Amino acid sequence: MKSLQKLATIALAIILMGSCTAQEEATTLKDALKDYFYIGTALNVPQVAGQDPQAIEIVKTHFNSVVAENCMKMMYLQPEEGVFFWDEADAFIEFAEANDMQVIGHTLVWHSQAPRWMFVDENGDQVSRERLIERMKTHVQTVVERYKGRVHGWDVVNETILDDGSWRQSPWVRIIGPEFVQMAFEFAHEIDPDVELYYNDYSVSRPEKRDGIYNMVKDLIDNGVKIDAVGLQGHLSMDFPTVEMKEEALQKLASLGVKVMVTEMDITVLPWPSRRHSAEVSLNYEISDEYNPYPNGLSEESYTALMDKYVDFFEMFMRNKDIISRVTVWGVDDNQSWRNNWPIRGRTDYPLLFDRDYQPKSAVTRIIELANAKKQ
Ligand code: G3I
Repeated sequence: MKSLQKLATIALAIILMGSCTAQEEATTLKDALKDYFYIGTALNVPQVAGQDPQAIEIVKTHFNSVVAENCMKMMYLQPEEGVFFWDEADAFIEFAEANDMQVIGHTLVWHSQAPRWMFVDENGDQVSRERLIERMKTHVQTVVERYKGRVHGWDVVNETILDDGSWRQSPWVRIIGPEFVQMAFEFAHEIDPDVELYYNDYSVSRPEKRDGIYNMVKDLIDNGVKIDAVGLQGHLSMDFPTVEMKEEALQKLASLGVKVMVTEMDITVLPWPSRRHSAEVSLNYEISDEYNPYPNGLSEESYTALMDKYVDFFEMFMRNKDIISRVTVWGVDDNQSWRNNWPIRGRTDYPLLFDRDYQPKSAVTRIIELANAKKQ
């Protein structure tokens, strides 16, 4: 009898242990990945305004970091010189705070979505170097000051290195010179010494571009500039870049002693309308059936390949958790992704982790399982 009781006790203990492990298994992305890195998403204005409650439910359940997809960019925050518009950015930050999420500020200085007045004087001529530096300083410092202590990190400069590793000849570079980057970082740091400061760019897996960014960041560090991390956007396609290329870029940049982050991940399954892949925002091609092959749903084969691709990348991110501080996907669900309208307007793409019916794709479960399994 005694030995029977003993056996029953052992059996009960095993069952309890089993159920404990089951209870500890995370069921959401943010819980599963919490020992790896922050998992973020980009929010648009309608979502924050409560017009897309199903998307917001997903955000609250699965993500612990958020970035504004558009409303904190220069042309929205300062549409006219000296006239700042804060409402949408304030609402975004209040949403994040109410839900205990890390806030990423995007982006202080970028060539795209900069207001037109920024680069011209009152006569419509090109603004002087001194005046542009002053305008940049005013913008950076006014914005950083307003959200001091509330933003975890800023994308200070966005996309200033081209795919071949050279400097983009944007008005910032043409009028001020490449030193505008160091100035922008210093202006931000002067106002908020505690906030993290990032450089953010796309196609960083390209060796020439990766090395151009590496050299620029190295110069900043050598000049004593505070830079906490480099963001690799991660607007991927099915065939570019490979996991290995991305891993190499992450590791090379991290070897400078900064953190690295994947800041705008999405994966398009649609054919690319030119020979060369890029995430250059100014690209715009004509729509045709050939380039919009899945208007009514993905084929099973493409869906599986896409899911595998997501899982492969996340597996690599998890392996590199010591250098990666955050992985952010660029949007919540396929319906609202910018990819439906770029580089061709009006296509149907499937680039995110949640589908048009707000359902998690199988990659979500697989990433969660992978993270749980690696913890054991
Ligand atoms: O707000 C106007 C609206 O009033 C108007 O009716 C509508 C008509 O097209 O346009 C709206 O503006 C759009 C804006 O997004 C807000 O939705 C612009 O046309 C559109 O060009 C703009 O696109 C954004 C793009 O940056 C602009 O450069 C995308 O949503 C946004 O996802 C994208 O994000 C960038 C990152 O900031 C930096 N890295 C690359 C990434 C993708 O391009």
